[in-house]
Amino acid sequence: MSDQRVVITDESSGKSLELPVIKGTEGEPTLQIKALPSTLGYFTYDPGFTATASCTSKITFIDGGKGILRYRGYPIEQLSEKSNFLEVAFLLLTGELPTSAETEDFEEDITYHTMIHEKLNTFISGFHYDAHPMAMMAGVVGSLAAFYHDKLDMENPAHRLLAAKRMIAKMPTIAAACYRHHMGWPTAYPKNSLNYTERFLDMMFSVPAEKYEVSPVAAKAFDLLFILHADHEQNASTSTVRLVGSTGANPYASVAAGISALWGPAHGGANEAVLNMLDEIGDISRVGLFVDKAKDKNDPFRLMGFGHRVYKNYDPRASIIRAAAYEVLEELGASDPLMDLAMELERIALEDEYFVTKKLYPNVDFYSGIIYKALGIPRSMFTVMFAIARTVGWVSQWLEQEETPTPIGRPRQVYDGQPARDYVSVESR
Ligand code: SDX
Repeated sequence: MSDQRVVITDESSGKSLELPVIKGTEGEPTLQIKALPSTLGYFTYDPGFTATASCTSKITFIDGGKGILRYRGYPIEQLSEKSNFLEVAFLLLTGELPTSAETEDFEEDITYHTMIHEKLNTFISGFHYDAHPMAMMAGVVGSLAAFYHDKLDMENPAHRLLAAKRMIAKMPTIAAACYRHHMGWPTAYPKNSLNYTERFLDMMFSVPAEKYEVSPVAAKAFDLLFILHADHEQNASTSTVRLVGSTGANPYASVAAGISALWGPAHGGANEAVLNMLDEIGDISRVGLFVDKAKDKNDPFRLMGFGHRVYKNYDPRASIIRAAAYEVLEELGASDPLMDLAMELERIALEDEYFVTKKLYPNVDFYSGIIYKALGIPRSMFTVMFAIARTVGWVSQWLEQEETPTPIGRPRQVYDGQPARDYVSVESR
């Protein structure tokens, strides 16, 4: 809390209220409005929470105007160049980069929890072969509560941290099991001799009939993509995890709710929607048509992978992924007409008055699908990749909330339905 105050006055009653200003280490100042209902009798109305801070947090800082993203103070550009996903996971969970000894212990901790109960593989085999993997992930992760619920004392910090590490460790195993169910392949168990991303790729693509060598290009690209998707402040899915967690719900249930929120095409589902959109555009000659559709107020079509609630500048992750997409295609000796189409779409959009005025830039989802496609990930699994990485952010934010006295989340409303009225018997209707 700062000493600064903002005074608001209700002209109708002449009453005034001093609102304390809360300033964080960085970012916009906020008004503490708790006293508003009891003093002036007003609530605030902010659909989509566009101007509302739901919590304080030490984990991630975003400056949307400057295109800044930092995890625990470290710029995403430095972490993506110098760190690796498990080190970033330790940083997000604990607040500091690990020493060599801590790195070794953490890697062992995560590696130790990579297997899932065999009954979960039976559960996964019950899904229809073409079930969307995000639907499967939400169901399977939520069901982890059925395996660990009675051993979890939410008041015990060690139990909470174990639940967090279990989810970080098991998400790749569950994701790969969902993919293999769809492919009709037998279960691939985690190989603890491999590192996090190599182990994931081995579980995804190894088949009993062949020796599988993990591509170093793919492992490096996935590690980068996992770093870039690990956390992003109070986005829709993280806010969902916090809201569910605020009821005291099981952490597996909270993360399962986050997975469901992430699936939406306005959020993490956009990476799959971008490739579908690029397919629909089909050819550079049709880009202008779709840009016009996106600008047409009467057309619900939006350019997927463009725009952001917070970034009103280039999403720093998009810049990094764009460069990585080029590198991966080059290193794999592959080319993808969708990459050329995406670049042309970006060029035209960024020169267009509508997008410039509304500050709509490519976001993290615009280029990530190009890389996933080049690495052999099927489109329906793109958002699952996002979920694997974001699990680190979800559990870090959940732990932070658990360590801070937090009221149950319970927004209010503006009621604009029927006023009080008496029951009418069916004969009189
Ligand atoms: C992610 O929050 C996070 O941090 C999310 C995320 C994370 O890491 O967790 O960064 C990941 O979800 C990235 C966003 C992925 N979604 C998409 O790419 C879907 C397409 N984008 C839009 O749906 C939209 O831009 C949102 C949902 C991302 C943001 O929407 P906002 O902030 O609520 O903005 P808005 O809908 O109020 O739009 C403002 C204006 C509107 O026009 P007006 O009503 O003011 O005339 O911009 C227009 C919108 O119509 N607009 C677009 C557009 N996005 C916004 N017009 C065309 N194409 C778009 N993509």
